Amino acid sequence: MATLLVTGGCGFIGSNFIRDVLANEPDISIVNFDALTYAGNLANLADLESHSRYRFVKGDITDRAAVEKALEGVDGVINFAAESHVDRSILDSGPFLRTNVIGTQILLDVARSQKIKRFVQVSTDEVYGSLGATGLFTEETPLHPNSPYSASKAAADMLVQAYVHTFGMDAVITRCSNNYGPYQFPEKLIPLFITNLMRDQQVPIYGDGQQIRDWIHVRDHGAGILAAWRKGKAGEVYNFGGRCEKANLDLTHLMLDLLGKPRTLIKYVQDRPGHDRRYAIDCTKAERELGWSPQMTFDVGLRETIDWYKANEAWIKNVRSGDYLKYYQQQYGSR
Ligand code: NAD
Ligand code: DAU
Repeated sequence: MATLLVTGGCGFIGSNFIRDVLANEPDISIVNFDALTYAGNLANLADLESHSRYRFVKGDITDRAAVEKALEGVDGVINFAAESHVDRSILDSGPFLRTNVIGTQILLDVARSQKIKRFVQVSTDEVYGSLGATGLFTEETPLHPNSPYSASKAAADMLVQAYVHTFGMDAVITRCSNNYGPYQFPEKLIPLFITNLMRDQQVPIYGDGQQIRDWIHVRDHGAGILAAWRKGKAGEVYNFGGRCEKANLDLTHLMLDLLGKPRTLIKYVQDRPGHDRRYAIDCTKAERELGWSPQMTFDVGLRETIDWYKANEAWIKNVRSGDYLKYYQQQYGSR
């Protein structure tokens, strides 16, 4: 039996990962270490609270004493914990540096001193910057982060690589493209647009809407992270993507059609400052070396995601209150 400390397990990707591991991996126990920021939601895993291979610990990865305690008896760390929203990093980058950089450094330090077997750093394709009309990000693409969020993630990746190089730590880095699926906080494009459209509210398209993202289902991302934990080589980077490039406007039209809503609900707003134009991932290394490949087709995955939001009105109502309303006003009131 291996025990994994999953940080940020109450967020979107972490909670989907924990759900799948508990369902399908009987040789893995999970300690979920999460500070429960605005993005962390205990409701995401409420049905699994009493699972025999699951334990929740409320804690902050920048709190060394709490991390030391949580890592006792743990075999591996999967570090999902982060401030994850680009727009928020433009409003205030402070929490991004604190959690994404200092938090990762503290986790690495404690994992090293407690001789944790493997550290998986969950990173992002945004560290590579922006592509032109052609080409793909490979693991060899130089880092060129453009937003405070991606700069903080790139800094964390470089710290991980420094710990591998300097201390011989066993760590791997995964870099994934845009995730979608259930339990995603409705500040990101897909859940924001679905939940707005369900209420006949307008959806804000930044700039000309021709920016391209490469969409992957969250469970495919989780399967890649698990494969990296099991089969990855220390010091290596693995890219994950869905081979599913879509311009934001085309994706918006698709969501409008699936929800039966008119195109008049589209509102063009001022562009995101420094907006990356295109992301697209070459994931052949992960396919070759980890035996992983994305399974979910976008057509099915998007329909299922819309159905999930439709079936979870109480969840939406809960997360769209409090801090969310303040953020939404700050973000879109000015655009
Ligand atoms: P999320 O914002 O939904 O969840 C983040 C979680 O981390 C929350 O539960 C939050 O409470 C927790 N957290 C934040 N600060 C913390 C701290 N200091 N200590 C402990 N817990 C803390 O994020 P997500 O979309 O699930 O992303 C998870 C990870 O995957 C992030 O590292 C992100 O950079 C990376 N990633 C995300 C995507 C994507 O499309 N969402 C794609 C590639 C990589
Ligand atoms: O590529 C991986 C990254 O994907 C992750 O590292 C990040 O954590 C995750 O948030 C995501 O970043 P993006 O900035 O690409 O995602 P977001 O959903 O914020 O935006 C997707 C695209 O949609 C982007 O081009 C901006 C645009 N957009 C977004 C919002 C929220 C709009 O046009 N309007 C909006 O209201």
